[in-house]
Amino acid sequence: IKTLAIILAAGSGSRMQMEVPKQYLHLNGIPMMVYSLKTFEESCVDDIAVAVPEDDIEYVDKNIIKKYGISKVLYISKGGKSRYESVYNALLHPAVLKKKYDLVLIHDAARPAVSKNIIENSIKGGLKFKAYVPAVLSKDTVKIADENGFSRLTPDRKDIYCIQTPQAFSYELCKNAYRKLFEAGDFRGVTDDAAVIEKMTDIKVKLGYGEYTNIKVTTSEDVEIIEMFLKKYII
Ligand code: C5P
Repeated sequence: IKTLAIILAAGSGSRMQMEVPKQYLHLNGIPMMVYSLKTFEESCVDDIAVAVPEDDIEYVDKNIIKKYGISKVLYISKGGKSRYESVYNALLHPAVLKKKYDLVLIHDAARPAVSKNIIENSIKGGLKFKAYVPAVLSKDTVKIADENGFSRLTPDRKDIYCIQTPQAFSYELCKNAYRKLFEAGDFRGVTDDAAVIEKMTDIKVKLGYGEYTNIKVTTSEDVEIIEMFLKKYII
């Protein structure tokens, strides 16, 4: 079994309202993306691909990948304007087309507290179900709003899951679904990779093992919380 992990760090972090893009933000003194790189490095994935903004490729290679000794990185690909473009570029990078992967794991660098347990479960789940995503039950009640900001619907909380990464897919399935997505050119509703599979194929996505500590650092208040969770990671 050959597994590729794609780590996405090409966002602008606009919701953080900070000068530095969030993937370079230091958490307990270490750049955010180093945490998930280290955890994937120590997992059983074979290769790692990293997506970063085009202008930062050299910087990341020298100051992150080499500096922190991440040896499984096969290539750094250029990010796109949107998350799905970053994924597509990484999936079709020349270095990857030469290899034959069975499975691809796609992970947001913005989830630095991902654990080895989540990665291992995603690998097992991806092999078994072809499309598998870490999930946790929503702690909050969720409401669907109408266009005037009134509640239109309250789905039963027992059916509501918050979806995390790494999401795991059969490599060919994922590549073909992304190719079809770009051919169709309709990107509405695509905020994660599972949505691409759901939109472009008839494979059902299995919701699997996630952890509440695997939060996505999105707004500035997440920084204090994640630094607490990351104290157990010694780098
Ligand atoms: O914006 P959002 O929180 O959904 O971003 C999730 C992940 O996708 C982040 O790790 C971010 O760096 C990445 N991303 C990317 N390319 C983009 C936008 C986001 O790699 N154009």
